[in-house]
Amino acid sequence: MAQSRKIKLGFILHGVGRTWNDWRHPDKDVNASTSFAFYTRQAQLAEKGKFDFLFVADSLSITEKSSPHYLNRVEPITILSALAAVTSKIGLVATLTVSYSEPFNVARQFASLDHISGGRAGWNVVTSWLGDTAANFSKTEHPPHNVRYRIAAEYLDVVQGLWDSWEEDAHVADKASGTFVDPAKLHRLDHKGEFFQVRGPLNIKRAPQGQPVIFQAGASDDGRNFAARRAEVIFTHGPTIEETAAYYSDVKERAKGFGRDPDQLYILPGIAPIVGDTDEDAEARYRELADLESLETGFGFLSRTFNDHDFHQYDLDAPFPDVAHIGLNSQQSGTLRILSQVRAENLTLRQVVQRLATPRGTFVGSPETVANELQNWFENRAADGFVVFEPLPGQLDLFVEKVIPILQARGLFREEYEGDTFRENIGLPVPDNRYTAARDSQEAA
Ligand SMILES: Cc1cc2nc3c(=O)[nH]c(=O)nc-3n(C[C@H](O)[C@H](O)[C@H](O)COP(=O)(O)O)c2cc1C
Repeated sequence: MAQSRKIKLGFILHGVGRTWNDWRHPDKDVNASTSFAFYTRQAQLAEKGKFDFLFVADSLSITEKSSPHYLNRVEPITILSALAAVTSKIGLVATLTVSYSEPFNVARQFASLDHISGGRAGWNVVTSWLGDTAANFSKTEHPPHNVRYRIAAEYLDVVQGLWDSWEEDAHVADKASGTFVDPAKLHRLDHKGEFFQVRGPLNIKRAPQGQPVIFQAGASDDGRNFAARRAEVIFTHGPTIEETAAYYSDVKERAKGFGRDPDQLYILPGIAPIVGDTDEDAEARYRELADLESLETGFGFLSRTFNDHDFHQYDLDAPFPDVAHIGLNSQQSGTLRILSQVRAENLTLRQVVQRLATPRGTFVGSPETVANELQNWFENRAADGFVVFEPLPGQLDLFVEKVIPILQARGLFREEYEGDTFRENIGLPVPDNRYTAARDSQEAA
């Protein structure tokens, strides 16, 4: 039977090296990270599977110990602009940090992507956790965690304000009268705030979606408030159904507290499903992946959470070192998650590193097993959908060919795209232009 609430699905476009060693898998193309042919195939396959959107993650600082994917990654807006030309329905979501960019440029880039793609752009607003990023942007200091979220809020005000520069019918382009724009419908922002002074207007007309879709992944207290107040789609790490359901209800409650309709924001855990012909086959594929990993992968994930701190200096079998101060200004929520496990279970450094080295997740099994688990999370309100990593070569094919048809047969996932723009497909309203809305309400009064 057809259901009205449908699972939302995003696919994470990722080149080589989600972990530190998976690039060594015999079927992995080691040049995938910079291969347009690879990205085109994945994007078209995800669109064939009727995924809502493609997502490109990003970061801006590396060390020689960073994972292969961090070491060699294409710039998100650039790759998505190219993929706009070889896809037609799927949403295109790029990560861009507010800590190391200017709102005017970013407003313009996403408005351009929205025009180029016929209304398919989304922006994942991140604040960047790696402190060394400052050194790549002529800055001496990485802003503190809470300041980063204050910057993010004002930054988003500016970008969304700039996106409203042009009312829908401001671009008159009437050859007979010689009127190109209606000046009454073109607006300066004149923003003067704590961090930004931006006059406007933006030099590109209103985007086909009105405004590109806003994504966020806040997990700390400040991050959750920001996401609940401002985001339309929220990513979260999905370690267990219980933890994710707790996050889900907390963020939806916060959204209600901010006067929002909680059904107008979608929470999508990031998952890395491993599908096999049978449950045993899937387990064997997981082992293939796990066997490639070593403690170094665990050290890598741990170090990334704690601002690229090197944990090799500590005794592996001693209690976990006292490093909270390093992580709290970096990936705060990840730091707190690890520290609470350490406290609850008295873990040594070795135990933490071992757990991180071979992440398995709950989505390993036959197509039915994986579909059941997705349904379970969705129906029990741990998720409105999922953003999917491909942990092993060939897994996107299996997901599209075997898992999606099961979800469709159960009425849980679309058979066809509903419309042309990303907002139409994912089911989000087009935001009003603030100036048009103000004029309409004045006229109605
Ligand atoms: C699925 C998913 C994708 C994410 N993508 C990015 C990304 O591309 N770049 C980034 O800096 N952070 C990314 N994050 C991390 C968040 O931006 C955020 O730093 C993290 O969840 C910690 O939030 P906090 O600052 O509230 O502690 C992602 C998180 C999730 C769950």
